Amino acid sequence: MGDSKKLLILVGSPRRNGNSATLAAAVQRGAEEAEIHVSLRFIDDSISGFLRDCRQCRLPNGECAIEDNFRQLFFDDFLPANGVVFCSPVYWYGLSAQTKVFFDRTFCYYSASYADSAQVMEQMTRKRLGLVLASEETYPGASLGIVHQIQEYCRYTHSEFVGVVRGIGNSRSEVVRDPGAPMVAAEQLGREIFNRRYSDFRINTERSGRVWHQDDDRS
Ligand SMILES: Cc1cc2nc3c(=O)[nH]c(=O)nc-3n(C[C@H](O)[C@H](O)[C@H](O)COP(=O)(O)O)c2cc1C
Repeated sequence: MGDSKKLLILVGSPRRNGNSATLAAAVQRGAEEAEIHVSLRFIDDSISGFLRDCRQCRLPNGECAIEDNFRQLFFDDFLPANGVVFCSPVYWYGLSAQTKVFFDRTFCYYSASYADSAQVMEQMTRKRLGLVLASEETYPGASLGIVHQIQEYCRYTHSEFVGVVRGIGNSRSEVVRDPGAPMVAAEQLGREIFNRRYSDFRINTERSGRVWHQDDDRS
């Protein structure tokens, strides 16, 4: 597994045996089957506070002054990862605060007032991203705001948004009984995170007119 790609799975629920965590474990299983190097982290193990006003808060050496382990999570796990899967419960039709604050806190290190921001920005780009959501409601609209946010994050960071899995459940791990089989889809997302076909055309993108080719297909 020495040269294998690195996948980070970030879980944004406070519940260690909740639905997001259950789906995250499925992503991990799939990725490990594909011999991907996987790390799984609960965001609230590392982050204990909101982004503050960096101009007032930053230490004289440029580091974030908030005393938690965001720095390790960001520099040791997130930046080196080739792919990241965010697993969040739907809270109020948005991401959980745990997940949202992860994105907000990255600001401290890519803003121009951080000495190595150029290097950080470079490492924030061109990842493969997946999204896994757990919600009580089945209504498709409940997750659209989140999907849109991740889509915009991927556009902004030149990342590839390769898949969304939505599992329905409310009590802990109930998502395994969702007849829509999100556990299967989550495992598949993990397995395929780095080789799933990804396309995002522009009007002048050259294409053959077919998406899937068979070896013997000459027509
Ligand atoms: C604060 C809070 C807000 C929630 N808001 C929604 C919501 O807007 N829509 C929804 O479908 N479920 C909502 N839920 C239910 C959770 O999404 C659902 O229980 C999910 O399975 C929890 O995932 P977890 O087990 O990973 O924490 C909410 C739950 C909480 C605690």
